[in-house]
Amino acid sequence: MLKIKIVGVAGSVRKNSNTEILVKKALKAAESLGEVETEFISLAEKKVEFCRACFNCWRELGKCVIEDDVPKILEKLCKSDGMIFGSPVYYGTISAKLKALMDRCVSILLPPKPVTSFEWDKLKNMPLTSKLRNKVGGAVVVGGFRGGGHEYALSAIHHFFMINDMFVVVDGGIRTYEIHPHFGATALGIRKGEVLKDEFGVKLAESVGLRVAEATKIVKAGLGLMKP
Ligand SMILES: Cc1cc2nc3c(=O)[nH]c(=O)nc-3n(C[C@H](O)[C@H](O)[C@H](O)COP(=O)(O)O)c2cc1C
Repeated sequence: MLKIKIVGVAGSVRKNSNTEILVKKALKAAESLGEVETEFISLAEKKVEFCRACFNCWRELGKCVIEDDVPKILEKLCKSDGMIFGSPVYYGTISAKLKALMDRCVSILLPPKPVTSFEWDKLKNMPLTSKLRNKVGGAVVVGGFRGGGHEYALSAIHHFFMINDMFVVVDGGIRTYEIHPHFGATALGIRKGEVLKDEFGVKLAESVGLRVAEATKIVKAGLGLMKP
């Protein structure tokens, strides 16, 4: 059977967070499909600085001037076949830390050759390719309040995947009348670990994880057929 690698990223700023729990549940469900290797990354203790918009990464093809934990994380994402991003809901959207990681992905959205001069008018026809292109992505979020902005947070993650030419998947992992994530897994919890009480939210995360694994296998098989 085709082997795939799925990376889970938990975007909470706290350790042992609800987001970590949810992403781990999704990864475990993904593994249940068989021949699925997973890797979990928590941003809680990682140094993630803001993109400085210096575009050195376009001058030196992928070389970011910032020395923090991001290049290693991006390397892992680039080597993966699929990914699951999780975030706490903060003010109706994702955490600033996860957003900071996303912004740093400009260093893996690259032109074919180094840009030597930033005369933007002359760069209009320059192709750009994301190193995340053709990977599969799914999203899980946890917020403290019903109607707290979960779906906006999910959209922020989905939009990031779309900008990177990825395949966004959601529903169809575990599909019952009750478990229909539709727009991604939404879970409830405030204090650390509280999300485990939201059995329904956990099931939604598992459904997303399973669907990401299934879709990743399909996409990887398809990409294999496209090779000369
Ligand atoms: C700065 C901040 C903003 C928050 N904003 C929201 C919000 O808009 N909607 C919501 O449902 N919960 C909100 N919460 C609650 C968190 O989403 C909730 O505690 C969640 O469990 C945190 O996830 P974590 O354990 O993964 O860190 C907020 C919490 C913090 C600290």
